[in-house]
Amino acid sequence: MLKRITYVSRYATPFSDAELAELGERAAQNNRELGISGVLLTSGGIFFQVLEGPPEAVDAVYNAIAADERHTDLVLLGQEPNASARHYPDWSMKTINLDAASHVRLLPLKVLMESVYQQQQLIDKMLWAIDRTLRLEFKDR
Ligand SMILES: Cc1cc2nc3c(=O)[nH]c(=O)nc-3n(C[C@H](O)[C@H](O)[C@H](O)COP(=O)(O)O)c2cc1C
Repeated sequence: MLKRITYVSRYATPFSDAELAELGERAAQNNRELGISGVLLTSGGIFFQVLEGPPEAVDAVYNAIAADERHTDLVLLGQEPNASARHYPDWSMKTINLDAASHVRLLPLKVLMESVYQQQQLIDKMLWAIDRTLRLEFKDR
């Protein structure tokens, strides 16, 4: 069985390039032992990560990541509990800092990633509005 998880989050504190590289290396090292593969993109203070591998391992690592105080506001974008094949079989955690000037050809990704994050915030606000309307409307019933 193969599970894939995709989420976005934002930095809780600023990261230097060296800290990002270190985080990526450490993640790749752990993931290699657990049979996890994936990609970690960063841009404009936002993380976008795909984790894929054995379901128990993916869940355990995702729980550890979710509890990591270096980032916040995690939003799960996608969960495939029964993925058919790995998207990134050769990357135990390819870490790409899109803010680095050398990735000019990846600029569209940067825009997409930031847009995903903003859309998600909009969805959160809409969910809040639905919830609030329902609770006001039915508060005495
Ligand atoms: C954005 C982000 C992505 C991370 N990705 C991974 C990952 O793919 N694999 C992993 O083991 N740890 C990852 N971590 C680190 C975990 O949160 C946690 O620090 C780590 O699993 C602890 O393992 P260690 O004690 O071996 O360092 C990530 C942390 C952050 C903030």
